[in-house]
Amino acid sequence: MAAPVYESSSHSRRGAHGGTPLQLVDREACEIEMSWRMTVATMALPYSRLATEYDATIGAPFFRETRDRFERLVQKYGLSFRSAADIGCGTGLFARYLQRSRKIPVFAVDLSESMLRMASKNCRETDVKLLRQDMRYLTLPEPVDLITANFDTVNHLVKAGDLRQALRQIFANLNAGGHFIFDVVTNCLPIGRSRHYRRRFDGPRRRVTQAVRLDPIRRLLSIVVSISSPETLNPIVERHHERVYSPAEVGGALQEAGFIIRGVHDAVTLTAARACVPRIVVVAQKVTR
Ligand SMILES: C[S@@+](CC[C@H](N)C(=O)[O-])C[C@H]1O[C@@H](n2cnc3c(N)ncnc32)[C@H](O)[C@@H]1O
Repeated sequence: MAAPVYESSSHSRRGAHGGTPLQLVDREACEIEMSWRMTVATMALPYSRLATEYDATIGAPFFRETRDRFERLVQKYGLSFRSAADIGCGTGLFARYLQRSRKIPVFAVDLSESMLRMASKNCRETDVKLLRQDMRYLTLPEPVDLITANFDTVNHLVKAGDLRQALRQIFANLNAGGHFIFDVVTNCLPIGRSRHYRRRFDGPRRRVTQAVRLDPIRRLLSIVVSISSPETLNPIVERHHERVYSPAEVGGALQEAGFIIRGVHDAVTLTAARACVPRIVVVAQKVTR
C-alpha cells in the first residue's frame, strides 16, 4: 500500500502569498524565499516520495562508502557472523550486499513502507527477509550475530529515551558475542555559527537538495529534503527530523544496554575518534558472562 501523501494543491503556482519571488540578498531573504517555495511545493511524508529517488541520488554513493568502511572494520576486528540484520535498511542495498557476499540469512528492517517497497525490488533475487518494524521495538524472528544501522539511522531516534530503548532491543536481538556496528552524526558538526547548510545530490534527471538546520540547544536537525525532476512542476518536499548525539551519550547508552564498546572511529578516516568528529562509527559487542 502506498504511503499517504499530503498535497498542497489549493496553493497556486505563484504561492499562497501571490507576489513574485524575492531577490536573494542575504540569509534572511534566502529563508523567506525558501518558505515561499515551500508554499508551492508538494509536501510528502518522510521517505515516501524520496524512496524512488533515493538510490540514484543519495543511496548508491553512501552505500559504497558504508560497504568499504564495513569491510575494513570486519578485517580490523576479525569479525565473523552467520546471520545479520540491517535496521533502518532503507532501500535494502546494504542488506542485499550482506546476503550476497556472505550467503547468510539477513533481515532488513525499516519503518517506511515506501523504502521497504524499494528494498523489496532491490532484494528480489536474494533471501533477504524484509520486516516493517520500529527499531525501538525491534523483534527479529530469531537473534542474529550482527546488527548494522547505517547512514544516520540512529539519529532518527529523536525523543528522550528513544536511543536507550532502541539499544536495549538491539541487544536483546543479538546472539551472545554478537556485534552492533552503526554510525552516528554527532554534536560536533562543523557548521559554525550559521547553524545551517545545504547539500545537493544529483542523479540522472533528478536532484535532491537537503537544507539542514541545527538547533544546538535541543540538538535537533531539521532537514528539508527537496526533490526536483523535469516531470514535476514544483519540487516535492519532505521534512525530516534527526537528533545529533554526543559520543559520550552514545557510549553511556550502549553500556547501560549491556554492550561493551570495542571501537569508536572517525567515519572519514576510520582512525580511533580521539577528538569529537562529525560522524562516528561504533563497534559494540554483546558479551555475556
Ligand atoms: C537516512 S536513511 C538510511 C537508509 C540506509 N540505512 C542507507 O544506508 O541508505 C534512514 C532510514 O531509517 C529509517 N527509520 C527511521 N526511523 C526508524 C525507526 N524508528 N525504525 C526503523 N527504521 C527507521 C527510515 O525509514 C530510513 O529508511
